[in-house]
Amino acid sequence: MHILVTGGTGFIGTALVAELLKRDYRVSVLTRQEQAQRPGVDFIRRLEAIAAPVDGVINLAGASLAARRWNEHYKAEMVASRVGLTEGLVNWMRSQPAPPKVLLSGSAVGYYGASRELSFDESSPPGRGFSAELCQAWESATGVASGADTRVVSLRLGVVFDRGGGALNEMMRSFQLGVGSWMGDGAQWLSWVHRADVVRSILFLLDQETATGPYNLVAPLPVTHRDFCSILSARKRTLFNTGIPAPVMRLMMGEMADELLLTGQRVTPDRLLAAGFEFRFGSLDSALIDILSRTKA
Ligand SMILES: NC(=O)c1ccc[n+]([C@@H]2O[C@H](COP(=O)([O-])OP(=O)(O)OC[C@H]3O[C@@H](n4cnc5c(N)ncnc54)[C@H](OP(=O)(O)O)[C@@H]3O)[C@@H](O)[C@H]2O)c1
Repeated sequence: MHILVTGGTGFIGTALVAELLKRDYRVSVLTRQEQAQRPGVDFIRRLEAIAAPVDGVINLAGASLAARRWNEHYKAEMVASRVGLTEGLVNWMRSQPAPPKVLLSGSAVGYYGASRELSFDESSPPGRGFSAELCQAWESATGVASGADTRVVSLRLGVVFDRGGGALNEMMRSFQLGVGSWMGDGAQWLSWVHRADVVRSILFLLDQETATGPYNLVAPLPVTHRDFCSILSARKRTLFNTGIPAPVMRLMMGEMADELLLTGQRVTPDRLLAAGFEFRFGSLDSALIDILSRTKA
């Protein structure tokens, strides 16, 4: 089996590629950077450099939404690195004599927009705002590949937690100093998922030959930011817990604060559960116990 991964050098992609290699799959990773050679992996800079027919594509590339303040230039980069890159990828797939049989492509729970009251499953309608519309455009670009030759799955990712990167590193900063914190009033929802379960669910969807359409890659038990703080502070023993006021967040982060941090959505993995996927880390406490046990103080 030959799998092409975009974003294979990233937080999720690195862990995914390691598991693909354990299956003895041949892996090609599309990357912008020069990479050190790695047994079993072909790092390629252009799709045309792929040497052998590809059986499946996992599309995770995209400029980080949380890495820096948003301005018009960076917003254009976030769009181009997902929608533009996916359009090129899909065109390439369709031009192949034997197109890949499956495309699993990134998206996010931001697709649904933000709400404090509603709960979202895969049948919920799309929401509004920059990140919601970005996810919708990304999924539309992916959908073009769908047809008799190729099944397409949209991976609506929640906030992925593990050591060594991602949102948890940032969210734990104050806890390292003994102060628990949440953002704004802390009542916004956080649909989180352990990275190990993200990788396991991507492999599950790769194997399930009838899986098509959107799947929410989130743990079954979302929490509020305040819940997150109290569960983590029970494990990290904080001196006190406090909220960072919304105006301070807006001053520090700009528009991103309202799009990603001060709002959220309560999302459940209905289709994964219905398909028989079993989460290893169903509760936030179980995920944090695992992650903290592998993280230096
Ligand atoms: N982690 C999360 O909590 C989370 C939540 C929801 C959705 N997602 C989505 O899932 C995908 C993977 O997430 P991740 O956390 O693994 O991301 P990541 O660590 O930021 O990695 C993304 C990869 O995309 C490539 N990339 C970055 N900027 C790019 C650009 N301007 N043009 C083309 N490629 C670019 C990079 O690969 P090269 O440097 O090798 O080119 C990078 O390794 C992302 O698209 C992200 O939006 C992640």
